[in-house]
Amino acid sequence: MKTHMFHVLLFFSLAKSAVVPSVPSHLRDCYRSSLADSQAPRRLDVYLSLLRKLELNNQLDMRMFSTALLRSLRLDGIEQSSANAVETEFLLPYRASSFQFHKYKLLMDIFLPSQNLINVDETLPVEEKCLLHEMLSSTVRRWERGDENVVCPVSAQQSQTMVTQSSTRINSRCPIEEGVIQTNWGTVSPGTLVAAIATSLEPQRVSVTDILNANIFKQDIAEPMMSSAKQEWFENIETLPNDQGNRWQSDIPEISNIWVATLAGDLAEVVVNQGPRVGAVAQNMSIGTNSRWNDTLLPRHHYIFPPDGSIIDWHFTDAEMLAGIDGLILAQYVPKWVEQRRTLRLSQVLDMYYSNDGVSFEPTVRACNRRTLFNNLFNSTDLVTEASKFAYVLSLRQITVYMPVQEMERITNAAVTAFDNYLSAFLRQNHNECRVSNSVPVIDLIVATDGSWKGNDVEEFMSWMGGALESSLQRGTMSLLHGNSGQWIAPPSHNLTTVFSHIKNYTDQWPNRLNLPTVMSSVLRHSLNSSLMEIANNASGALSTIVLIISPSDRPSATEMEQARSLMSSLRTTYFDVYFTYVAENLSDFQVISEYMDYSELFLRTPSTRVQNVIDAVDDFLLKNHIPSRLIGPQCPFNNTVFKQVEYEDFVLPNRPMYYRIHPFYLQQQPLIQVQFRNSGQGELLVCMWRGAEASHSCQTIEERGTHAFNLTNPCPSPDFCLPAHFTVAATSSSNTCAHNDCRLPHEVGYYITHTGLRCLPLRALGRILQSELSVIVSALLILKSIIYIL
Ligand SMILES: *[C@@H]1O[C@H](CO)[C@@H](O)[C@H](O)[C@H]1NC(C)=O
Ligand SMILES: *[C@@H]1O[C@H](CO)[C@@H](O)[C@H](O)[C@H]1NC(C)=O
Ligand SMILES: *[C@@H]1O[C@H](CO)[C@@H](O)[C@H](O)[C@H]1NC(C)=O
Ligand SMILES: *[C@@H]1O[C@H](CO)[C@@H](O)[C@H](O)[C@H]1NC(C)=O
Ligand SMILES: *[C@@H]1O[C@H](CO)[C@@H](O)[C@H](O)[C@H]1NC(C)=O
Ligand SMILES: *[C@@H]1O[C@H](CO)[C@@H](O)[C@H](O)[C@H]1NC(C)=O
Ligand SMILES: *[C@@H]1O[C@H](CO)[C@@H](O)[C@H](O)[C@H]1NC(C)=O
Ligand SMILES: *[C@@H]1O[C@H](CO)[C@@H](O)[C@H](O)[C@H]1NC(C)=O
Ligand SMILES: *[C@@H]1O[C@H](CO)[C@@H](O)[C@H](O)[C@H]1NC(C)=O
Ligand SMILES: *[C@@H]1O[C@H](CO)[C@@H](O)[C@H](O)[C@H]1NC(C)=O
Repeated sequence: MKTHMFHVLLFFSLAKSAVVPSVPSHLRDCYRSSLADSQAPRRLDVYLSLLRKLELNNQLDMRMFSTALLRSLRLDGIEQSSANAVETEFLLPYRASSFQFHKYKLLMDIFLPSQNLINVDETLPVEEKCLLHEMLSSTVRRWERGDENVVCPVSAQQSQTMVTQSSTRINSRCPIEEGVIQTNWGTVSPGTLVAAIATSLEPQRVSVTDILNANIFKQDIAEPMMSSAKQEWFENIETLPNDQGNRWQSDIPEISNIWVATLAGDLAEVVVNQGPRVGAVAQNMSIGTNSRWNDTLLPRHHYIFPPDGSIIDWHFTDAEMLAGIDGLILAQYVPKWVEQRRTLRLSQVLDMYYSNDGVSFEPTVRACNRRTLFNNLFNSTDLVTEASKFAYVLSLRQITVYMPVQEMERITNAAVTAFDNYLSAFLRQNHNECRVSNSVPVIDLIVATDGSWKGNDVEEFMSWMGGALESSLQRGTMSLLHGNSGQWIAPPSHNLTTVFSHIKNYTDQWPNRLNLPTVMSSVLRHSLNSSLMEIANNASGALSTIVLIISPSDRPSATEMEQARSLMSSLRTTYFDVYFTYVAENLSDFQVISEYMDYSELFLRTPSTRVQNVIDAVDDFLLKNHIPSRLIGPQCPFNNTVFKQVEYEDFVLPNRPMYYRIHPFYLQQQPLIQVQFRNSGQGELLVCMWRGAEASHSCQTIEERGTHAFNLTNPCPSPDFCLPAHFTVAATSSSNTCAHNDCRLPHEVGYYITHTGLRCLPLRALGRILQSELSVIVSALLILKSIIYIL
């Protein structure tokens, strides 16, 4: 107990300055065995959603935010300290004892002095905090876990060589690399990216002699190492004449923090860790990793397949290399962009760089142009100079044999040669052509599945879907209904972290078949809930709800069909903008559920029950289908209350038009409808209107701060037949000034929509009655039906 107290005190006194290898108190929860890992995909969209939340709750500029982020949530090289260590309330069997720690410590102690200005616990619940910590912190879980026979089964020949290992802890054949996320342009280490951006906003060149003199550096280096270093540095410099005194290739013995944060830092790890073993032989140096995600649709574990199971050779992983390259590219531009727009956020830079559209300030800067951008800036000579100096400093901390400067240069030259040899094939492998991007619908999505998919299939689909909806989830939601019971497995959430947390917590059986009536009843209750909410908020527009029924194999019974048809006709009396999308091998049953075509149904045929087939169908026919948001009429005057609608605010990106629809219900029996768009001043807009499937659109440009009103006189002359009204809003130019919290990206252009003359919806009068009656759903529906007819 006493020794423990001592450690705690020591920790606190050091914490303000130097980075220490023990897990800091705010991250200890992440290493408790009671906390299971987040099941959310390790992917860019999930990472950005976590960053965004932290950014919006800590109004720091990008420079302060990124250093504080590294301080508070990154700690490289954490590993379990021994196989049978016991966890107690006070003791955690984890510490940063692996090689990655040393580089991180030097970076934070010397090259990027910083304070922890973020109180993560105030913003992120433990699961989100730990996921972000894991994504930012490089380490490799190297010990055998027990699932290797499933994940990386051995051939008979390999198993011969495996037996030779005899220690109590066995290396895994496929260790797991942490601190990595998947992007469309390869797997990267976000910690490296953040460090690159942080250093670029605080660029420094630190002289080697200053480092050797710094207490924070010297304090735990063995005396013999330090004195050899002093001898080589200070004594030589004093005794030799000026022009020979410097033994470095470059004139100034200084190290750039941007290089330390990126490629030179990781290359130095190769030099220091492999150099003493293999010498200055490029062919014998191991650069890059043979690694892959075990499931590309649901990237959770990133496995490394080392060529020789007994040697650690992941000193410079593919993900670190790619992030180092992207980091160096971004470091060239970010300071300039921040100069232009002080409010620019880290999440926005990464969001735009890893997109087909590129960064709004300089659209050619994007991951699909990585090869060109990198070839224009990279010079191996610089890498040799920076890496050899940093390797020298790193070696003093990390290894016990003193390596003189010249030796370090020889090995670094070999390592850079190995890097150069690896580079072009590597960049080719991770290359993905720039494409024209399309609009991603902003929707509330409800998914229900039948018995043909097990939990893992559903999770793969939800993971893909969340990625495909991109960050539109910031406004839209995603949810999962149990296809049989109609209960929420995951209620509507704005991000995959929460969706997967609900799925993990869900312990009941997965659906064994689809029960369409229970699903529809839940949709009906949910629609009532959201409509009452919209009325309370005086909404004039809202997202559309998409109910995605994935039933590749199940067929409804005759009774279910009967109930489903009746429920659907009730639903359609009030909830016009709930889209039903059915995915099935045989669609004939689903096609006859609705009595009439209501402009809100989609039927997608899938050739099989395979997840990938369903994904292809949903991608082609739902996502690319421009699902419009809805403009809705007010609540009808009720008990002398008048409902005054509030403006609907929205944002549009250049090349990504937004779509709106007014359902015919709101147009019927109305003499004049006016829909007005008001530009809030971040660019120029083009708004268009048309009816039904008309080819001719009536369009109008709206200048910054301008408005335009569309007038629909007598929009539905015939009582039997009326077409919906459609609108699009496109940004024709952007001033890049969207600084609003709701703006995902700086080049979004904001606008407001208002309308008058829409027919009102008599819902609230029914609301109270319905709320109490809904427990017996089907009977309540009959009540709803009759009331609507009375009104
Ligand atoms: C590389 O290592 C192998 C075995 O470890 C050794 O046989 C070979 O000579 C080394 N190559 C060079 C160029 O030193
Ligand atoms: C991924 O790994 C898990 C175990 O960690 C395994 O259950 C699952 O089947 C694997 N998925 C694929 C596609 O290999
Ligand atoms: C790299 O930079 C060095 C000096 O820093 C210069 O001499 C050399 O020509 C450059 N090489 C390339 C390929 O640009
Ligand atoms: C995810 O969504 C939930 C609810 O939808 C919200 O409480 C949580 O803060 C969100 N987390 C992030 C990281 O955005
Ligand atoms: C899942 O369960 C854990 C532990 O009980 C809880 O902390 C977490 O909030 C739950 N997740 C959701 C989304 O409710
Ligand atoms: C509707 O709202 C009530 C109360 O807010 C909630 O308990 C219920 O779960 C909601 N129902 C659905 C289907 O969302
Ligand atoms: C909606 O309108 C009513 C009546 O005009 C008003 O009392 C109420 O505060 C409004 N609610 C919101 C959220 O704006
Ligand atoms: C689809 O189902 C309908 C009704 O059950 C049936 O008549 C039809 O033959 C089926 N079509 C195919 C291609 O199996
Ligand atoms: C209508 O308003 C009156 C007076 O404000 C109130 O007493 C009555 O309960 C209201 N009726 C309903 C159905 O809300
Ligand atoms: C619509 O009507 C308003 C007046 O009611 C008028 O100011 C406006 O110019 C009209 N818009 C169009 C496109 O005709």
